[in-house]
Amino acid sequence: MNHCSSQLKKQQSQPAGKKGARMTTELRNHRWQQILAWLLAGLFILGFFFSPVGAWTGPIIGVWFVGSQRPLRGFLWMTAIAFIPGLLMHWRSFPLTGPTEPLQYLGWMLLVALLGVLPFTFHRFASPHFSGLLSTLPLPLAGTALQILDPPQPFGALTGIGFHHFLVLWFAAVVVWMWNREANWAKFGAGAGFFAVIAILEGDSFALTPSFLNALTPNFGSTFAWTCLAGCCAYLVYALLRPFHSQPWASRQETVARLQSPSTGAPLHVVAEQGREALGSAAGESFPIRKGIPDFRAPQDLTGDNLKYNHVYQTIGGFYDDIQRIFCALAGFDRSAYFHSYLDLLEVKPGDSVLETSVGTGLNFRYLPAGATLSGLDLSPEMLANCQLNLRRWQMDADLYLGNAESLPFADSSFDVVFHVGGINFFNDRAKAIREMIRVARPGSLLLIADETEKHVKEVYEKSPGGLWKNRREPVSAPIDLIPPEMQEVRLQQMRNGDTYALTFRKPALL
Ligand SMILES: C[S@@+](CC[C@H](N)C(=O)[O-])C[C@H]1O[C@@H](n2cnc3c(N)ncnc32)[C@H](O)[C@@H]1O
Repeated sequence: MNHCSSQLKKQQSQPAGKKGARMTTELRNHRWQQILAWLLAGLFILGFFFSPVGAWTGPIIGVWFVGSQRPLRGFLWMTAIAFIPGLLMHWRSFPLTGPTEPLQYLGWMLLVALLGVLPFTFHRFASPHFSGLLSTLPLPLAGTALQILDPPQPFGALTGIGFHHFLVLWFAAVVVWMWNREANWAKFGAGAGFFAVIAILEGDSFALTPSFLNALTPNFGSTFAWTCLAGCCAYLVYALLRPFHSQPWASRQETVARLQSPSTGAPLHVVAEQGREALGSAAGESFPIRKGIPDFRAPQDLTGDNLKYNHVYQTIGGFYDDIQRIFCALAGFDRSAYFHSYLDLLEVKPGDSVLETSVGTGLNFRYLPAGATLSGLDLSPEMLANCQLNLRRWQMDADLYLGNAESLPFADSSFDVVFHVGGINFFNDRAKAIREMIRVARPGSLLLIADETEKHVKEVYEKSPGGLWKNRREPVSAPIDLIPPEMQEVRLQQMRNGDTYALTFRKPALL
């Protein structure tokens, strides 16, 4: 038993009719982490009403929000979010004496909102090109460089003052960097302590007044701002000169060899289409490759429930991981143990080729044993874009495909391990998706299907805003009856107090 499965408590084990065995597992709660999570949530809420706290928590929310969105969408949304409250808050401090002043005021506030958001957008653009702590510096550099503009009062305070502002923004970038890399609580604590010490040393930490550094060196503020501008230019040049390149598909011969057209089953090869790589078949079919991801979607893939729920994933793709992590932390359960509770059921060995259908943002990949060759397919471009981002952060590699899990673009018996987590409940055709998983799995391999139970859908999803999960065609259920009778070792387990199920079965060695 490994370290995580030891945290799982087997509650019962009973036969599941002719199909196999049923078990229920439960994850232990992490009480002190849950308390910490609620305290932190409280702090962030307090930040909306109490500006000394908001001065620290606001930039964290900003860098996280803009970082989780496509650059333009993040920029526009955050400008709107900064502009409207700013208008209301600073109305009184602007000298509205003449007829043109209200317009001037609107113009100024819009400019301030745009300028305020610019460092966050710059960070969103430049940071992913760097690793480690270097990736945390674009935000504080850009935010501090803005002080060169030296805006008149009452706008001066909005761009912050000197080193203190640098520190606040750096703190925000480091917190989000740690959050995105799932640093443990101890590292978070050490980082926060480090910043607290610097903030105290720097003086006047919670009031935006000149610091003792400014007092020591009268020109410190402006020299520092110009230095930060030079730093921004260096970051910009580096990021522009080093755009992301995914490995050309022409060099992935083994991977391409197992691809086939999802509609005709014809083998595919790499072709050049208007100077770009694409995948083509001898029959003239062509599938574009965008940002390193082949697109196998056909119009009929995005119909019915597939289309209905695709809208959700397209909207929340940037937040998906965060929603899951915050929910887990507030609920107090051990997320890593949860991933292992079903992934450890698989038989992944170093060197195995592994396929996850509906890979989403790739969260499961992180918890698989190292050394496997990973492939993931999903119907949502937004989820896959975030998967690509995650893989870069985790320094992992995987072949990603945009397509429908109900018609896979892979030849028969292509993968040593095939699994699916979290989407099948709301597929248009679950039976077809399962047949496809079996088709592309190597004979003798173990397959896994895991998703949420009706209990969880009713208690959580149905209560979520928008009413999307109400008026479903039928209650969700583990698709045990859709597993073909020739499959072996069929087992159904319930996890997380019956909130999720994990269904495993083996494809016979001779089929
Ligand atoms: C809840 S997420 C699970 C993501 C990931 N497997 C995980 O465990 O974190 C469900 C995923 O299923 C994908 N999905 C939904 N319908 C699909 C379909 N017909 N084919 C492929 N993926 C689909 C969604 O885009 C979404 O990324």
